[in-house]
Amino acid sequence: MSKYYITTPIYYINDVPHIGHAYTTIAADVLARYHRAKGDDVFFLTGTDEHGAKIAEAAAKAGKTPREFVDDLRPKFKETWKKLNISYDQFFATTNPKHEEYVQDFVEDLEQNGFIEKREYEGLYCVACEKFLKEAELVEGCCPDHKKPPVKQKEENYFFKLSEFQDKLLERIESGELEIGPASRKNEIVGKIKQGLEDISISRAAVEWGVAFPGDPKQTIYVWIDALLNYYTATKIYGDDIETSPSPSHPLHLASHQAEEELSAGGPAWPANLHLMAKDILWFHSVIWPAMLLAADLPLPKKVFAHGFFTVNGQKMSKTIGNVIDPNEVVDKYGADAVRFYLLSAFPFGEDGDVSLEKLDQAYNKLANEVGNLVQRTLSMINKYSIDPKLEARSLKLGKVKIPDSRFQIPVAEELNNLDFAGALRKIMTVAEEQNKYIAEKQPWTLAKEGKADLLNEVLLSVYNNLVGLSDALLPFIPETAEKMKKQLETLEPEPIFPKLT
Ligand code: MSP
Repeated sequence: MSKYYITTPIYYINDVPHIGHAYTTIAADVLARYHRAKGDDVFFLTGTDEHGAKIAEAAAKAGKTPREFVDDLRPKFKETWKKLNISYDQFFATTNPKHEEYVQDFVEDLEQNGFIEKREYEGLYCVACEKFLKEAELVEGCCPDHKKPPVKQKEENYFFKLSEFQDKLLERIESGELEIGPASRKNEIVGKIKQGLEDISISRAAVEWGVAFPGDPKQTIYVWIDALLNYYTATKIYGDDIETSPSPSHPLHLASHQAEEELSAGGPAWPANLHLMAKDILWFHSVIWPAMLLAADLPLPKKVFAHGFFTVNGQKMSKTIGNVIDPNEVVDKYGADAVRFYLLSAFPFGEDGDVSLEKLDQAYNKLANEVGNLVQRTLSMINKYSIDPKLEARSLKLGKVKIPDSRFQIPVAEELNNLDFAGALRKIMTVAEEQNKYIAEKQPWTLAKEGKADLLNEVLLSVYNNLVGLSDALLPFIPETAEKMKKQLETLEPEPIFPKLT
């Protein structure tokens, strides 16, 4: 059994989750479910990023303390993920006191290892990005992503010596030890690292809502350092080695090795197999995060993959434009499966794309026609034609038919290993289309009329077996539908899976 530890970003909890957050989380869920079905020891982590100026500002605006604010919003994320059938193993909140302690320990480790230095710093800070921007990055004096001017900040801060990791990072990335995908983005990252890495400030004097900097309570730890560490501290908090490895000098380091050895039932162990996110935060995950781990002598994640950004009806999703899609609303109308299916089949994972409610509607109908109807028709015919005693005897056995033989399995391992969700779904839907065509061509009703019982039996058995293969392949993508299919294939009682949209 191999371990598979997969993560989503922890989303800023300054507002309710939107469809963009759902996109990454659904993709991670498909992989988690796929690996579970394969028998891997999966740990799927998601959560919320709860500290920093951005959250403190949102809380103030809502007239709440930051703590009240995040405690009130956190359930919204959990509810949305539940609605979308997200099978996470843990929901991580950075306000977890254990996490805060481990973050401080980690920063102390970096200090002990000589990678932290106090310096005067003046820079342009974008609160929405929670990062300093360079003059050259600004577009007409504004942050290119948020279209707002950054604020000038002058502080004495603690710096992480990122510049010392340029060669080590390049070595790990170019050797493939740290995999970055897709390839085009890997090349961008490598090019940028080669231009040189600058040390980064990892504390804030002006931000109160955060983890206190060890030894200097007037400063808090930079929210991104706190956030990235969630992937690692989760293995300390929820891993199987909890409290089993007290080591006063390097508690984090030793525990991680133990965790790797001791992992047995379900707990996460460092390193992660895959960090998923969009391109906006790839630099943090493929450069800053690995450098932090190298500085603490910890293993690097195996793979970091950035998908694209999507627009809605050709425009960036924004509250001002009013085109933000609430995942809860679309799930209420179309069900979780159609939303999951649509988002992952709309455009290639890794590229930018566009989504719209009209196309979601079409995707729902495609599922209803190609898959839902196919199940109904097949099972109705199996029931209807089993009047023939010979057929009846066989059809009674249908539910227990020993399958699938390899003919009926739809091989999507390669696509899923490459995170090609759209490709996998295309392959699966092709099988459904072929079965529909096969029925149209063989016309079981004509075979019945002509008394060709053996042929009729063979045709329906073949479709039946393909439906079993289909339900297996669909399981990670649209679990509710796949479960319904499996149940109906077992009981041979057809029930509508995709009701007509009202
Ligand atoms: N809190 C940080 C992440 C810290 S991880 C250690 C953060 N949060 S965020 O709320 O802004 O989430 C960003 C992520 O949300 C993106 O990387 C992506 O996963 C997802 N997306 C948000 N909008 C999206 C689109 N319009 N399209 C695709 N993904 C989107 O950054």
